Amino acid sequence: MELLRLSTTKEVPPGEMHQFKIKGKELLVVNIDNHFYCLEARCTHAGAPLTEGTLDGDVLTCPWHGSRFRVTDGSIVGGPASKPLNTYKITIKDDQLFVEA
Ligand code: FES
Repeated sequence: MELLRLSTTKEVPPGEMHQFKIKGKELLVVNIDNHFYCLEARCTHAGAPLTEGTLDGDVLTCPWHGSRFRVTDGSIVGGPASKPLNTYKITIKDDQLFVEA
């Protein structure tokens, strides 16, 4: 595990999400009321880019077949996906976002 810099906090405003590619991994960072969460950026069902999905509170809906995931822990709220999303720990230092990956 190492701490990798993603962006500044301002680049991901509240209620928005942003995809980053770092060290070959696609990561999704979501800002909910200035709490930042990082998850794998592809749906576990068939690989849809979740950054094109919709965010409703802390629930993210996949753009392809409608699976719903809880952003705070990657758990499944509704199928067809049967595997939760991996999550990564975010650290904030001096308005910079870092992820442990
Ligand atoms: S790819 Fe996300 S629900 Fe099918």
